[in-house]
Amino acid sequence: MDKTRLAGKKALITGGAQGMGAAIAKYWAAQGAAVCVADLNVEGVEKVAEEIKAAGGEATFIKLDVQDEEQAVAAVEHTAKTFGEINVLLNNAGVNKPLFFPDITKSNYDFIMGVNAWGKLNVMQKTTHKMIEQGKKDYPYKIINVGSILSREAFDDVTVYTMSKHAVLGLIKAGAKSLWQYGITVNGYGPGVVRTEMWEQLDRDLVEIGKFEKKGQSMDSIADNMILMQRYSYPEDVVGTAAFLASPESDYMTGQLLMIDGGMVIQ
Ligand SMILES: NC(=O)c1ccc[n+]([C@@H]2O[C@H](COP(=O)([O-])OP(=O)(O)OC[C@H]3O[C@@H](n4cnc5c(N)ncnc54)[C@H](O)[C@@H]3O)[C@@H](O)[C@H]2O)c1
Repeated sequence: MDKTRLAGKKALITGGAQGMGAAIAKYWAAQGAAVCVADLNVEGVEKVAEEIKAAGGEATFIKLDVQDEEQAVAAVEHTAKTFGEINVLLNNAGVNKPLFFPDITKSNYDFIMGVNAWGKLNVMQKTTHKMIEQGKKDYPYKIINVGSILSREAFDDVTVYTMSKHAVLGLIKAGAKSLWQYGITVNGYGPGVVRTEMWEQLDRDLVEIGKFEKKGQSMDSIADNMILMQRYSYPEDVVGTAAFLASPESDYMTGQLLMIDGGMVIQ
């Protein structure tokens, strides 16, 4: 592993307590980035930061509800103060709760859109306020927004999640056009089916609403029928592309969403 690939990168990572956020925090730190891991689950991010430091990396942590404006400002300030600057945001925190279309409620909509759409816009905006204040550098600031296959595709039982991930694509496109004048690029990636707690919960919820009969069936059925590479993925399948988007290798890119899905969505 190239320990200097992300040297000088000072990143805020939301939803960093588990799953892909935690895996990326560790991978980026091992390649030289300083990372602030932020999450609703503060014990989780404290543990991730301790693990990174024990392995010789640079890390800090903070409690963050991505929907809260004051907490978003505090997380950005904490990152910039601890590391001297903030130059990368991994806008990763996300939630899902499947419902058949006739059963969708306002509270289901508010829960998913609140975190996945407003939460992303909120943390991105507060980060870019700070980047604008820091002034243009001879390297681009980088915003990385986590989308999904459902930023470009649609599944019937996750309508609101699909809407929220299409919103992430809109945020990437509009953000790129709005922010380059300040030296900020905006990109993202779309995982497919990743074995994390989010999918374990989704699997349980899909059985509960009667979409599948037994646990594990959702993943196996999608892997067999919808994934070109015929296997679901793990956070380790995603970390490399996330590192590329944080690194100087992607400096000439903005407004792009890269799929990491084993060939589920090909456009
Ligand atoms: N797992 C998949 O198959 C999959 C597929 C496509 C996209 N994604 C996306 O990837 C990202 C990471 O997913 P994951 O699978 O690692 O999920 P995960 O559930 O394992 O982790 C998500 C983290 O976000 C945190 N979080 C939730 N709400 C929050 C809030 N309001 N404020 C701060 N933190 C909050 C949780 O505490 C958790 O630590 C999400 O944006 C998700 O939508 C996941």
